[in-house]
Amino acid sequence: MARLDKLYIGTNTKMYKTGAQTAAFLDRLGQNTADLAREALELFVIPSFTSLETAARHAAAAGISLGAQNMGWEDEGPFTGEISPLMLKEVGVKVVEIGHSERRHGLGETDEQENLKTRCALRHGFTPLLCVGETGDQKEAGISDEILRIQLKIGLRGVTAEQAGGLWIAYEPVWAIGASGVPASREYAEERHQAIRRVLVELFGEDAGGAAPILYGGSVNRQNAPELIAMPAVDGLFIGRAAWDADNFNRIIRDVVPLWKGK
Ligand code: 13P
Repeated sequence: MARLDKLYIGTNTKMYKTGAQTAAFLDRLGQNTADLAREALELFVIPSFTSLETAARHAAAAGISLGAQNMGWEDEGPFTGEISPLMLKEVGVKVVEIGHSERRHGLGETDEQENLKTRCALRHGFTPLLCVGETGDQKEAGISDEILRIQLKIGLRGVTAEQAGGLWIAYEPVWAIGASGVPASREYAEERHQAIRRVLVELFGEDAGGAAPILYGGSVNRQNAPELIAMPAVDGLFIGRAAWDADNFNRIIRDVVPLWKGK
């Protein structure tokens, strides 16, 4: 299986932080992490749409990759309220987050829509960050791996092995996300990451299927970040609340970077 030689760590700021607040956050995070070599660290921030243009300048100066929280799958057209790949390209976005649980479960997005977005993102040269994860009910019913398999097989339908190396996957169990969430245990996260990897290998073969990083997200904090990243199948962390203060995010990054030996 291909070795992943970078630690992936980033945050989605959801519907928090204005453009000015995002710029200040990126500046502070950049200063905090300036001494950390980016060859072995993929640090990314996914702010609100209205922040992106300002954020692009501040992120580039800070060695931080910029992402968008969503994307429409057509280049242009009568799609009121949607943001097209051309618009995201214009402002310097690299990563496109697709299928976050708040969009799937709060706004009714489907696996078929995530697939259209993923393929569109790849076509335009973005890095799709496809989020998958089971609900609490699905976990209790013992069908977590089946749900992940469906989300991946439909979400990645039509993606070629050649394109698959450009994918990032986030495993974000719905029951673990947000203020009412309970973080997954490291053992549980490891099992699901292994299940996701098996599907990627089935779809794309050992090399391409082994090359896409799988990040864990859902109530990651300073206490659990080191034990999660120490798990063999956890390639990175995708953090919400605990990363929105740049100093706290920096502490988490510094705790986990030394644990990273490459995988
Ligand atoms: P929390 O870390 O706040 O639970 O959010 C995780 C998340 O949704 C990242 O996309």
